[in-house]
Amino acid sequence: MFNNAITKKLKEEGIRFEIIENPPIKAVEDGVKFLGIEATDIVPTLIFKAEGKLLAVLKRGDQQLDLEVIKKYLKAKNLILANEKEIFEKLGFVKGAIPLITGLPTLMEETVLKKEYIYGGIGDFNYTLKIKPVDLKNVTKAEVISMTKKHRVFSGLRPTAKLHLGNYLGMVKGALELQNKADFDCIYSVVDLHGITTPFDPKTYQKQIKELVLDLLGAGLDPKKCHLMIQSQVPEHVELAYLFGTVYPVSRLEDLPTYKDKKAENPDYINMGLLYYPVLMAADILVYKADMVPVGKDQIPHIEVAREMARTFNRMFPSTSLRTSGKTFPEPQAYLTPGAYVPSLKGEGKMSKSIPGSFILLTDDLQMIKKRLAGAPTDVGKGEKVPEKGGVANLLTLVKLFEGNGIYKGYAEQYLHEGIRYDRLKDNLAVAIYNELAPVQERRKYYEDNYSLVEDILEEGKEYCSKIAQETLLEVKEKMGLVKLGNK
Ligand code: TRP
Repeated sequence: MFNNAITKKLKEEGIRFEIIENPPIKAVEDGVKFLGIEATDIVPTLIFKAEGKLLAVLKRGDQQLDLEVIKKYLKAKNLILANEKEIFEKLGFVKGAIPLITGLPTLMEETVLKKEYIYGGIGDFNYTLKIKPVDLKNVTKAEVISMTKKHRVFSGLRPTAKLHLGNYLGMVKGALELQNKADFDCIYSVVDLHGITTPFDPKTYQKQIKELVLDLLGAGLDPKKCHLMIQSQVPEHVELAYLFGTVYPVSRLEDLPTYKDKKAENPDYINMGLLYYPVLMAADILVYKADMVPVGKDQIPHIEVAREMARTFNRMFPSTSLRTSGKTFPEPQAYLTPGAYVPSLKGEGKMSKSIPGSFILLTDDLQMIKKRLAGAPTDVGKGEKVPEKGGVANLLTLVKLFEGNGIYKGYAEQYLHEGIRYDRLKDNLAVAIYNELAPVQERRKYYEDNYSLVEDILEEGKEYCSKIAQETLLEVKEKMGLVKLGNK
């Protein structure tokens, strides 16, 4: 029978509710399945102990709490989950109850209020309580604060070439998307230490780094919404990479396809850095405990290394003190950019910085775009079937991307009948591409002309990142026994 005391309490507080009897279930996931709802609809109640006092925290099933935020809010030095025995002694049930039933002081995560209905437990698995979160808000002692953990995003680009259209519509678009989301703290980096694993010229290297930063700012990375940094300016990346190297097997690194590819590309330039590349990349990501990494498909094996690194480290070096309780690293996920597939101008494959003649740079002017398009292979202009592969197919894909489906269909028709005039097609396409790039180039020029702004942006990035990286390193060294505990 549903607990009468709970019904009474709900009525007293003026909360509209519906009680759902559960089939026999053993876990929250079973209930979710039964009710046909999603993780965002269930609202678990966690019972914490702060400075020895119990406290209920109500959050959405899909959100992670940031304990630091809660501690700050409560002005409490320590905050831990209460154990079952403590909860039972105090409240008479074990877990999962909607907090107003507990009578404890309650914090409610802001996002809970974004739902029309929420589903919660009553302290056992026999019933589910469906209520409107607005009603809960008025309950005595419930305070609404924002306390979800923000996602952290990290991504890096090597300064080995200027950005081209393919990068712009691919990885960069993903980075732009994430910087615009409120719960995402984004760090984007020029990874100069990765860039020196393949042949490079020290005399032009600083210039290349600067060019890439300008390209990124031009493309729309907004210093108000993200942090931009140069990898080598935060040496903790390297320090963490070394420590990671001591827990990772060499054989796994030797087996990676990216390593094999680079060896084949530069047989005279096979260095330790190349082998260490994924370890440094894992450190780039994990030194900020980033959980999301916008990258292209080709980088998935590297993200897998980072995930494995996080798992291995967490397992080998569990927490040794309360200050650093919990897992050290999250397992980062690749954020595969939904960006378009931008074909090569050479008639085969995709646009790539390592294939000359295949790309259009973000900085190309109209003249240059025309010149590059002029080199793209074509045919006689007509035939029985519109080609699906090769130069003409690639040109038509670019038309679709930059001039839209309508124009594309017009050309496809022409191909089957009177024939395409490629000189005109290329002229129009060049203008369309240039129109897309003009605002990017304008922004880029603004930063180029006001370079002290860029210096300030990079300085901010360096300081912001150093602080986080130093904290992580201290935690890692504590856990590995390299410094005395609590030696802050
Ligand atoms: N390996 C990535 C590339 O070639 C560059 C990179 C280095 C990176 N460190 C990273 C990307 C960390 C994402 C996160 O594109």
